[in-house]
Amino acid sequence: MMRTLPPIECFRNEVERTIHSHGILLENPYTQWFALGEATDAQLRAFTVQFSVFSHLFVEAQLRKCINAPDIGTYRSGKQILMNELGVSFGRDGSVDGGTFHFHGAHYEWLVDFAEHLGLQWHELGKRRLGTPSTLRFCDALSEWYGSEDISTALGASYAIEHWANAGFWKALIAGLRKVRAQRRPDLPLGFWTWHDQLEELHAQHTEDELSIAYSRSCFVPERFIAGGIAMLDAVAVFWQGLAQSREEENESLRYAV
Ligand SMILES: [Fe+2]
Repeated sequence: MMRTLPPIECFRNEVERTIHSHGILLENPYTQWFALGEATDAQLRAFTVQFSVFSHLFVEAQLRKCINAPDIGTYRSGKQILMNELGVSFGRDGSVDGGTFHFHGAHYEWLVDFAEHLGLQWHELGKRRLGTPSTLRFCDALSEWYGSEDISTALGASYAIEHWANAGFWKALIAGLRKVRAQRRPDLPLGFWTWHDQLEELHAQHTEDELSIAYSRSCFVPERFIAGGIAMLDAVAVFWQGLAQSREEENESLRYAV
């Protein structure tokens, strides 16, 4: 039986209404505070540990996405991200094919370098056991929705994640970290943060094309795309709320200590 989907404009409106208008894309109190550059060293370390758990477990979700890819094209585009994440540089054509691997090229190693400047050590970073319940909920949602076996769900989650990354959280984090660097840590390496921010600007140009390509797939189910996107952003919100809550709890305990 031929499926009949409504015109893509209806779908775009629905994406606009649900994914683009998701609360966490409109307002993020944690990154707004972080951008002020007022985080103490302890707060910076707590943030870095949780971000390292997310960044490291993201690699698992990305591998799962490759394993579940429905065709070789999707498999390869997932693999580009995975290989680059692990340390293979993009060539002039924007592909990792023929690129060179460097241990130092792994995004996680950049983050470890950053964390070491804050006094954290290897064993204090990137391990699942170090994640708070909110961080782990986000990581598990990545595995479930972003790495989903169902292509419509995975595409929706991926679209939502790109939108989140474009919504300015890298810029807010960089703004805060630049202030910290200027005030008290002149050697703080910001490569991990600035590289991701630049990469997102490139991605932003492709996202809308991806929406049309997704919609033209014969097996595409719009409802699953939307559900995957919303579930992903709900989990993103839990991650940031978890960080905000840890900060408030720390403030509380300081208040009682005084
Ligand atoms: Fe990365």
